[in-house]
Amino acid sequence: MMRAVRVHAFGGPDSMVYEEVPRPEAGPGEVLIRIHAAALNPLDWVARSGFAVLPEAMRPKLDLPFTPGTDVSGVVAGVGNGVSQWREGDEVFGLVRFPGLVNGGKAYARYTTSPASHLARKPAGVDHVHAAAVPMAGLTAYQTLFDHIRLERGKTVLVNGAAGGVGHFAVQLAKATGAQVIGVASGRHAAFLRDLGVDQFIDYTTTAVEKAARDVDHVIDTVGGPRAHRLLPLVKPGGTISPVTFGDYREDRASELGISFRPGQVRSDGAQMSELARLMETGRVRPRIDSVFPLTDASHAHRRAEQGHIQGKIVLQVI
Ligand SMILES: NC(=O)c1ccc[n+]([C@@H]2O[C@H](COP(=O)([O-])OP(=O)(O)OC[C@H]3O[C@@H](n4cnc5c(N)ncnc54)[C@H](OP(=O)(O)O)[C@@H]3O)[C@@H](O)[C@H]2O)c1
Repeated sequence: MMRAVRVHAFGGPDSMVYEEVPRPEAGPGEVLIRIHAAALNPLDWVARSGFAVLPEAMRPKLDLPFTPGTDVSGVVAGVGNGVSQWREGDEVFGLVRFPGLVNGGKAYARYTTSPASHLARKPAGVDHVHAAAVPMAGLTAYQTLFDHIRLERGKTVLVNGAAGGVGHFAVQLAKATGAQVIGVASGRHAAFLRDLGVDQFIDYTTTAVEKAARDVDHVIDTVGGPRAHRLLPLVKPGGTISPVTFGDYREDRASELGISFRPGQVRSDGAQMSELARLMETGRVRPRIDSVFPLTDASHAHRRAEQGHIQGKIVLQVI
C-alpha cells in the first residue's frame, strides 16, 4: 500500500483526501517511480471540479475517485518487462501519460508508474522540486515554439501570461533561440520577467496591450477568454497566434489580416524532456517556484492556485 491524494466528489479544494491506496506496479514498458515532487497544473483543479468551466457536452469523462497530477520528479523504484533504458535508482522527471485519460499520471502520490518513453534523466544539479516544475508547462512552451511555430532567431514573440507556468518557459525558450520577447503580465511580475530577459514588459493592468506593441511575428496566448481577439492588431500579416487555452479569436477577421493559428495539445515526450534537461543544465531554462506545499496539504496548494497571479509553478513536495 502507499499514500496518495484522491478526489472522491467533484468540488472545491477540500474534496481531496490524503489516504491509503494500493501501490501500483510497473507493467511492460513502464517504470515505477518513487515520487519526490509533483507539480500542479490548471488541468488539476479544473478536473477536481468536474470540468465545471466547460459546457456539459464538452466535459471529459472522469471516474471517481481519482488521483490528480501529471508532472513528476523522482527515483526509479522498479522496471517492467522490456525496459532497458532505466534502472532502479535513476533520477527521472516527466509528463506522465498525457494526453490520454485525464487522471493517467496519478502524480499526487508516493508512487506512480509511467511509460519509460515519457521520462528523461533529471539534471544532477537541479533538485526534484525544480525538476517537477517543468514537464507540462515546459513541454507546452517547447512544442508551441519549436513544433508548431518553428521559431527562428531574430523573430519577435509576444507572450501573454508571461509569468505563469507556460509563459515563463516560453519567454526563456524564445530568448534562448535568439528571439525578441515581449512579456505581458501584471506589474508584480515586472522584475522577474526582466530578469528572464524580456526585451519589453507590458503591465496589462495599466496598459492596453494592443496599444503597446505592434508588428509582432508570433503571439503565444496562455490567457484566451472572450477578448482574445484584441491581440489580432498586434500581429504582422503572415504572423501567427498560438492559443494555449480557449479564446474568441474571431478567426475570420484573423484570416482577412493574414494571421494563421498554431494551436496544439501538449503531449508526453521523453526526448523533448531531455532537451529541456540540457537547457536547465546550462542555466538557459530556470524553473521559477511560486510556492511549495507538502503532499499532505494538496488542498492548500489548490487554494493558492485559485487565487491566480501565479509566478512560475506551484509544487507538492512528496519526500
Ligand atoms: N494546450 C495545452 O496543451 C495546455 C497545456 C498547459 C496549459 N494549458 C492551459 O494554458 C493556460 C495557462 O496555463 P499555465 O499553467 O501557464 O497557468 P498559470 O501558471 O496559472 O499562469 C497564468 C498566468 O496568466 C497571468 N494572467 C492572468 N490574466 C492575465 C491577463 N489578462 N493578461 C496577461 N496575463 C494574465 C497570471 O498572472 P498575472 O495576472 O499576475 O499576470 C498567471 O501568471 C491554462 O488555461 C491551462 O489550462 C493548455
